[in-house]
Amino acid sequence: MASKQGESKGSAPGKNMLWGGRFTGGLDPLMVAYNESIYYDRAFYAQDIAGSIAWARANKNRGILTSDEFSAIEKGFAQVREEWATNTFEIKPGVDEDIHTANERRLGEIIGTGIAGKLHTGRSRNEQIATDMRLWLHEELRKIEGHLANLLKVVAARAEQEIEHVMPGYTHLQRAQPIRWSHWMLSYGLAFATDLQRLREVVKRVNRSPLGCGALAGNPFDIDRDAMAKELGFDELIYNSMAGVADRDFVVETMQWGSTLMLHMSRWAEDLIVYSSAEFGFVKLADAYSTGSSLMPQKKNPDSLELLRGKSGRAFGHMAGLMMTIKGIPSTYNKDLQESVEPLLDHVKTVGDSIQIATGVLSTLVIQPDKMLAALTPDMLATDLADYLVRKGVPFRETHHISGQVVALAEKEKTPMDQLTFEQLQSVDKRFDKDIEETFDYQKSVEMRSAKGGTSKSSVEEQVKVLKKMLEGQ
Ligand code: ARG
Repeated sequence: MASKQGESKGSAPGKNMLWGGRFTGGLDPLMVAYNESIYYDRAFYAQDIAGSIAWARANKNRGILTSDEFSAIEKGFAQVREEWATNTFEIKPGVDEDIHTANERRLGEIIGTGIAGKLHTGRSRNEQIATDMRLWLHEELRKIEGHLANLLKVVAARAEQEIEHVMPGYTHLQRAQPIRWSHWMLSYGLAFATDLQRLREVVKRVNRSPLGCGALAGNPFDIDRDAMAKELGFDELIYNSMAGVADRDFVVETMQWGSTLMLHMSRWAEDLIVYSSAEFGFVKLADAYSTGSSLMPQKKNPDSLELLRGKSGRAFGHMAGLMMTIKGIPSTYNKDLQESVEPLLDHVKTVGDSIQIATGVLSTLVIQPDKMLAALTPDMLATDLADYLVRKGVPFRETHHISGQVVALAEKEKTPMDQLTFEQLQSVDKRFDKDIEETFDYQKSVEMRSAKGGTSKSSVEEQVKVLKKMLEGQ
């Protein structure tokens, strides 16, 4: 290609680069660093090589490469892959702009540029990066699916084992009604199980192949996209080449998914932080997931939970940031899209690590059932008192008022509600019978809530079953 007149300024870093032909002036060194992505997209080295081999094979089948040339490429890439795997790949600063150029440069050194120079026929890095990211993400999401399944198994096992223990349930962080500890665990467990269902949906859309889309308009050598997709383990193709190179919905959707999961995780962590404080004391965190204070020797801090809560903000930030990055860019590939890589890498690591930490925390947590019991107070049975009269035929609006009067009386007498005499109760309403005593029983209170989804033993057991089914993908 003809160079522009008067632009040649001697040594030009652009000269050694893949697209260097048109560029005769040197790049600002800061621009080189600003532009390069090799230091993070190297994470995709294996996917990039697999994609290149599939590409070469498909080109061999179209007569663009001979069988010998294909074999040389395949063999050369085996060495490149080995170098990355053993950390001996030498990145050429200022030359290896990204993982695609680095791999091709090294291939040329190993097998000669005569053959390596044919590899990129009809191909664009635009389709390469989209392919690499999707392949990588598909693998990572499968791992995350496994981590999430492990967390759910711990929830199910604990919920079954510790079903007897009753604790206060809260609204507005005020004591509300007695619940089973297992019911609390399952309240988050089922949210996480729903996240698992969502994840399985997201994975399907991640696993579509953009390879063969070209720079934007498609491939001019009738490359067999289906064969390449099959070789790489994709389920489907992306059917519009312009969309194929531009689409980062799979990144956005993954991060929206991860943000939702981390939102659940953050609230779960917040509950446990509160429950592990001395004032509550319902749970004790294992040493493995706590740290001490450098100043106060008595302290044991729930750092793991605080980090889970804190990292949820970071996960959400990556999602919001990328959506802002993408929203204004014109059709097909623009370099802005390179900004989808780092947030994705960090998001996936954050979410994957967080799920494993949460699993560690939950599986080593020690509960203090006596503290849970001690935190229950008779006034938490005020609704049960109202329900007692409902069963005697009194309208609920009336019973709610009567029960409120009993609470007020107990407060006035400075006596717990369950210690009021039968006469005192009757002074509030004549319809209280002797059997009212049975109402002042936390176990009875939870057992009364036996409709599906409630806190009775049978309802909680059913929730465990539901969770297990969701785990199996039913
Ligand atoms: N490193 C680039 C990215 O991550 C690869 C695609 C480059 N394409 C281009 N037309 N400059 O987005």
